[in-house]
Order: sequence, then structure tokens, then C-alpha cells
Amino acid sequence: MNVKYAVIPCAGKGTRFLPITKGVAKEMCPIVDRPTLDYIVQECVDGGITDIVFIVSRDKDDIKKFYTRDERYEQELIAGNKEEFAKSIRDITTKANFHYVIQEEQLGLGHAVLLAKEIVKDENFVVCCGDDICTYSNDAPVKQLVDAFIKTNGHTVVGGQKVAHENICKYGSMGIEKQLSDRLYKINKIIEKPKPEEAPSDLASLGKWVFNARIFDELENTPRGKGGEIQLTDAIDRLREKEDVYFYDFDGKRYDCGDKLGYIEAIIDVALSRDDLKDGVIEHIKSLNIK
Ligand code: UTP
Repeated sequence: MNVKYAVIPCAGKGTRFLPITKGVAKEMCPIVDRPTLDYIVQECVDGGITDIVFIVSRDKDDIKKFYTRDERYEQELIAGNKEEFAKSIRDITTKANFHYVIQEEQLGLGHAVLLAKEIVKDENFVVCCGDDICTYSNDAPVKQLVDAFIKTNGHTVVGGQKVAHENICKYGSMGIEKQLSDRLYKINKIIEKPKPEEAPSDLASLGKWVFNARIFDELENTPRGKGGEIQLTDAIDRLREKEDVYFYDFDGKRYDCGDKLGYIEAIIDVALSRDDLKDGVIEHIKSLNIK
């Protein structure tokens, strides 16, 4: 069973991140020296994905520019003895095949995923939100989810983690039918953003899924839900009435970079993980004498 496509919806308005998102796509906001989006692309590549489908809005040209090879610029850098930079910008554009689909109207995450059908057709595929990054020291979370998808014979796998009970109201909460192994569960419902007292569990959907192409049929028939948007969760719930759907509690540290605090945490942690920055960052934080 092969999973070669990853769909990354990046067409949202990013209102939680205004005013910067008036001029810059939130997916292109940097975490040190790479856009947020590139950490997600790298996770997909580390997970064995070869083809990335970006769902973009008409004004997000910077995403395409970033992933399109610029040989003239590479040559300029080489001529200036900056081979390392030339290699870094070339490697970004050659690590996968990139496809772009424009979402003309922001009708929700489910609508964005449905638009990928013209590229993905009847293949299996991963979906990763364009503003959720993960750090990991073992297998990439995308790889863990693809492995779970293979183990379940190609049934939908919702990726997520256990969150603090008071925070479950921000996510989709899983109703568990059966725990199949340490990290794999069969689910019997998903409740989107429940009040903590109404949540079936604290296992939360965190912006990563693996689907078979049958999700497209459900998305095509899913009416607009909350906020007039086509909700991916509603389509998963429809699919669950017809076939098994699973949840995988992935290993890795996840940051919601669509949220200001999550974004700042990601920058600090990524900087602290880099040999060229770690000492300087620690020295700076110490110098602040925070009580
Ligand atoms: P979010 O709801 O977090 O993104 O969607 P948003 O709409 O940009 O955020 P706010 O609430 O206005 O701040 C999760 C992912 O789905 C994409 C977003 O780009 C993000 O990566 N998305 C969302 C789309 O591609 N299209 C949509 O219509 C909605």
C-alpha cells in the first residue's frame, strides 16, 4: 500500500495572526530561517511522501516562488562563493514534486482538501494543516501515521495526542470504541470543540490525517456546517458510518503556529535545537533575569 501524496491546505485567511497576514501568508512566517510551511514539507518528505499538493489562495504567490527552482539566483550565489546557500535553496525545491491548486473562496478545511482530488485522484493521501509543525527525534509523525494506515489496511487515520482536559474545547475529541495497541485506537465518534465536560476523551485531533480516496465522496456530499464551512470532521464522521476510522497518538512535539504563543514557542525550541544558535539564545534568556 502506497502513500505518495501529501495535501497541505494553506489557503486560510489567518485572521488570528493579523496584521502580518494582511501582507504575508502565515505559512510563510519564518521559524528562524525557514518558513513554517517548510518544516511541514520536511516532515512529509521524512515520512516518505514524494508529491506535495499545496492548496493556496490566489494572493499566496510567495509559496510557489519559494518552491520553484531559481537557477539564475543559484549561479549568482555560487559566483559569490556562497555555495552553501546555493545548495540550501536548490535542495528545498528538489526534495519533492510540488503541485498547486487554488481555492478561490475560503469555504473551510474540508473544501480545501476536496480541491486536491484533481491531482490525487483515487490514491491514498496524507493531509497536514499548513500551520502545525512538529519536532521529532525518531520517526516523523507523518511516517507513524502512514505506518498505522498500512496496519489498518488503508482505513482513515486521524493523528493527534492527549491534551490537558481544559484544552480539549479547542480540538476535535475522539470517542474511543477500542484501544488496539499502545498508540492506536478505533473510534466511534469525533466531537468538534466540545465543552470539557462533554468531551468523550482528551485525545485530540491535531492537524494530520491519512485518507483513502473515499473521503472525497463524503466531502462532495457534506453540507456546509459550522461557520458556513465544509468541515473535514463532518466528512470523517460520515465515512465512519460506512467503514472503520482510527486514531493514532503520534510521538513528537507539536506547535500550533497559527496561534501567536504556539509560534513563539516553536521559534524558541527550534533555535535551542540548533548548534549555531543554542548558546547565544540561552545567554540572551539568562541576561533577561526573568523572575
Ligand atoms: P485554520 O482555521 O487554522 O486557518 O485552518 P485560518 O482560517 O487561516 O485561521 P484563522 O482562524 O483565520 O486565524 C487550518 C488550515 O486549513 C487551511 C489554513 O490555511 C490552515 O492551514 N484552510 C482553512 C484552507 O486552506 N482553506 C480554508 O478555507 C480554511
